[in-house]
Amino acid sequence: MALLEIEGLTVEFGSVAAPLIAVDNVDLTMEAGEIVGCVGESGSGKSVTALALMGLVDFPGRVRAKRMSFDGRDLLGLSDAGRRALVGKDIAMIFQDPLASLNPCFTVAFQLTETMRIHGTDAERRSAMRRRDRALELLQQVEIPDAATRLAAFPHQLSGGMAQRVMIAMAIACNPRLLIADEPTTALDVTVQAQVLELLVRLQHERGMALLLITHDLAVVAETVQRVMVMYAGQQVETGPVPAIFEAPEHPYTQALLAALPEHNLERSRLKAIPGIVPGQFDRPVGCLLSPRCDYALERCHRDQPLLEGPEGRKVRCHFALDPAGYPTGGWKAELQAQLPAETSAGAA
Ligand SMILES: Nc1ncnc2c1ncn2[C@@H]1O[C@H](COP(=O)(O)OP(=O)(O)OP(=O)(O)O)[C@@H](O)[C@H]1O
Ligand code: SF4
Ligand SMILES: [Mg+2]
Repeated sequence: MALLEIEGLTVEFGSVAAPLIAVDNVDLTMEAGEIVGCVGESGSGKSVTALALMGLVDFPGRVRAKRMSFDGRDLLGLSDAGRRALVGKDIAMIFQDPLASLNPCFTVAFQLTETMRIHGTDAERRSAMRRRDRALELLQQVEIPDAATRLAAFPHQLSGGMAQRVMIAMAIACNPRLLIADEPTTALDVTVQAQVLELLVRLQHERGMALLLITHDLAVVAETVQRVMVMYAGQQVETGPVPAIFEAPEHPYTQALLAALPEHNLERSRLKAIPGIVPGQFDRPVGCLLSPRCDYALERCHRDQPLLEGPEGRKVRCHFALDPAGYPTGGWKAELQAQLPAETSAGAA
């Protein structure tokens, strides 16, 4: 049994008749100690997926799933008390904006010890002194300079990098088995980004926790994670092992993301951009959600969109990837269209 098993997760906001589908039928499995990446452009549903997993999607959000379990426990059927016992302890999250996530009215020490007062060991729950010692230990583990003094600081007295380290310390305070890090380095400058990422990976390694790393940065994915889920408009469009996906991306969106990396564009003076924007609530196309932006779209793409499964847990949401009928995989060539004379892009609905 995997540590985390999610099948068919869907999150909608707004009216039932015309909902905004923020997360659309997402599957995700994570083993204990595994690092999985989640990438996709802004608005693709990365944070909402994580929030749904934590049980933090509030009304008017609606969460559905065929199955969502952590260590065999059904997350959807949890009572409020059951969820409080799990979230913050076994499953912890580092939120996207560290300064907005820390309470400006309380010191670092208060915010760090509060988690332990609720979720800590017996000794931590009983003794304020023990909690304070542990808070200091945690600040030292996340390499905050002058940790003892920082305990008394308020969030506005911290730099962005320090605030992020405090968030990490809070998240690992109760030794979670799954840590979700939502863009943990985006708000930081480049040198601090690398340090914070290194810290996260070191802590993951030392503690053997599973890490779901949400990021825009494919270079981070390449260096850090074992498997990656690529999201587009709320859907997972490609999932699989990082080496296989980086070597031969099957989905045109993954290919476009990789082609936009500077190291893939050494001979160009401009980076390759993906034209258009992610569809919104009122312009969601029928069939494949990428079809208005995809160079390879054919008539069938405007009707439906299969989720194809390949070896090593590879899943690709595209008509032509991993095609059992024998279309070439990995090589997205314009000639492919010529092989399908009955269909034309102009046949779009
Ligand atoms: N509380 C909410 N009410 C209504 N819509 C929401 C709410 N939270 C998120 N959304 C919508 O859900 C979609 C997915 O948002 P999400 O925050 O998951 O994107 P993201 O992939 O994390 O983007 P970014 O990379 O910018 O953080 C977006 O269209 C967003 O506007
Ligand atoms: S299903 Fe069609 S439109 Fe969608 S990504 Fe594949 S080729 Fe492009
Ligand atoms: Mg986000």
